[in-house]
Amino acid sequence: MRILITGASRGIGAELALQLAAEDQHLFLVARTEDRLREVANQCNALGGAGAAVAVPYDLAGILDKPAGFTTLLEQHTDCLDVLVNNAGLLVSKPFATFTPAEERRVFDTNYFMPAQLIRICMPFLERSAAASVINVTSMGAVQGSAKFPGLSAYSSSKGALAILTECLAEEFKTLNIKVNALAFGAVQTEMLEEAFPGLQSGTSPQEMGSFFKWFVMEGWRRMNGKMLPVSDSTP
Ligand SMILES: NC(=O)c1ccc[n+]([C@@H]2O[C@H](COP(=O)([O-])OP(=O)(O)OC[C@H]3O[C@@H](n4cnc5c(N)ncnc54)[C@H](OP(=O)(O)O)[C@@H]3O)[C@@H](O)[C@H]2O)c1
Repeated sequence: MRILITGASRGIGAELALQLAAEDQHLFLVARTEDRLREVANQCNALGGAGAAVAVPYDLAGILDKPAGFTTLLEQHTDCLDVLVNNAGLLVSKPFATFTPAEERRVFDTNYFMPAQLIRICMPFLERSAAASVINVTSMGAVQGSAKFPGLSAYSSSKGALAILTECLAEEFKTLNIKVNALAFGAVQTEMLEEAFPGLQSGTSPQEMGSFFKWFVMEGWRRMNGKMLPVSDSTP
């Protein structure tokens, strides 16, 4: 399969790329930090057999006002995608009362508007696949009725918006043969978690989440449409 993964320079996205590379998938890896992204792509290519990983260093903020630039970049590598994985995200933890609208907007830009715009850009590529899939990464905080944590209002709300977009697009894309689903991850021991909650131990490694994620990207989505799957070993 031809799979575009955003946020592949580190954390869960990098681990997903490595595990998919070991299954000979063709990967297009997007993130801003070029040296780390190229290192992940090199590791993928060392692991992969028939597949190949291409690093596409890019700040997804660019697609909000100049979408054509990313389309041109992607066209240099492929004319078709089977799976788009919207994994890149931004967590800012601070009390609601202290957020400025600009700070809130930055979180929503990364967690809602960039994934939404990337789906729009990738639609022609996905429509050329016999069976295509969009997988949006949300969070347990975006699940209605789940435990909520102080400081995560913008993060959880922006992921909640992405969750509802998932349901809406699943309906709208039915005739295009593009399935749209979301995974709501619980805490995973990545740099994002360590930066936001220093000292917190999640009990789930990127490798463990990456293993589930790989299965979902390769198989899981085929039996679902418009669903958000909580991926967490605690309740609520
Ligand atoms: N870790 C958790 O506990 C947890 C729990 C629930 C959900 N999630 C979600 O899972 C996903 C991955 O999380 P993670 O913990 O692996 O996060 P992470 O370690 O912070 O990695 C985030 C990735 O997103 C990329 N990224 C951020 N902004 C970008 C932009 N403007 N353009 C391009 N790439 C950008 C970063 O790369 P560059 O900095 O190189 O651009 C990085 O590769 C996120 O959507 C997160 O919200 C994580």
